[in-house]
Amino acid sequence: MQNPEAKKLVSIKNLTLTFNAGKKNEKTALEDVSFDIYEGETFGLVGESGSGKTTLGRTVLKLYDPASGSIEFDGHDINKMKKKELADFRSKAQMIFQDPQASLNGRLTVSNILGEGLDEAGFTKNKEERRKKILELLHMVGLNEDHASRYPHEFSGGQKQRIGIARALAVQPKFVIADEPISALDVSVQAQVVNLLAKLQKEQGLTYLFIAHDLAMVKYLSDRIGVLHWGKLVELGTADQVYNHPLHPYTKSLLSAVPVPDPVKEKAHHVKSYDPSFEKDGQERHMVEMETGHFVLATDEEAAKYKADQK
Ligand SMILES: Nc1ncnc2c1ncn2[C@@H]1O[C@H](COP(=O)(O)OP(=O)(O)OP(=O)(O)O)[C@@H](O)[C@H]1O
Ligand SMILES: [Mg+2]
Repeated sequence: MQNPEAKKLVSIKNLTLTFNAGKKNEKTALEDVSFDIYEGETFGLVGESGSGKTTLGRTVLKLYDPASGSIEFDGHDINKMKKKELADFRSKAQMIFQDPQASLNGRLTVSNILGEGLDEAGFTKNKEERRKKILELLHMVGLNEDHASRYPHEFSGGQKQRIGIARALAVQPKFVIADEPISALDVSVQAQVVNLLAKLQKEQGLTYLFIAHDLAMVKYLSDRIGVLHWGKLVELGTADQVYNHPLHPYTKSLLSAVPVPDPVKEKAHHVKSYDPSFEKDGQERHMVEMETGHFVLATDEEAAKYKADQK
């Protein structure tokens, strides 16, 4: 998404978040993170376990209070929104979770799970309309009328995730954060769910923040990619820039961990190790734009070295 006309839907500036501030177990989970998400794009966020991906997603949905920095949604600071604006934001920004079982209320039927969303958004004037909308949502995610009266535990993992997606979309959001939506699923249904998300994006003009470990999957789906390590954004660029022309050694090591489909090449395939100790050397680093839209967290010297390494 290099279109300069594209509108920023989400704008994250210098976001820092600390858990248990002032206590012994204080943990800075996000540090000075800045990036924008443009309307209609899929922004892929990758990084190893504990890098802060979920924390970032939850902070963008105003479920955590940042220590500093700001988050704007549609031009409005989410931490300064008044009650009505906030309610509107809550329906426009939704989340799909990694574990569909845990995110669905097991005591409600599918019909009531979806109905709850519709009621929240005030979309249903009467029972008949509510029923019709529930069926529409089920069809939209490839389920049918027979599924409406069942409980979440009666479904397979992939079907549960379809219900989770329908629940998120019931309130007609503009922005959806998908937090590792397929990592708990069987490999055979992962592609189906990804295709469903892509189809829904096209049909409804959705904007996605797609969180994953798997750079290969993110590359397939994303317009742009951000790489998070130890709570810092270390690289940002188009999917092609980050996947095919990585700059930061951490991104390179993440990429080298992606398996190669060819068994001969896979045997010779070398996973690059990454020594992160330099990140804590106390030097000031900032996001350096190495080519249009492609940023790397570096000192000026490191930036020059990364550039030289690429040639
Ligand atoms: N509620 C919390 N209280 C204290 N620390 C937390 C809390 N949530 C997350 N953390 C810590 O913040 C860091 C980032 O966690 P986060 O869950 O955002 O990582 P993640 O990138 O989503 O990892 P994963 O890929 O395993 O889901 C971790 O060190 C984690 O232990
Ligand atoms: Mg997570």
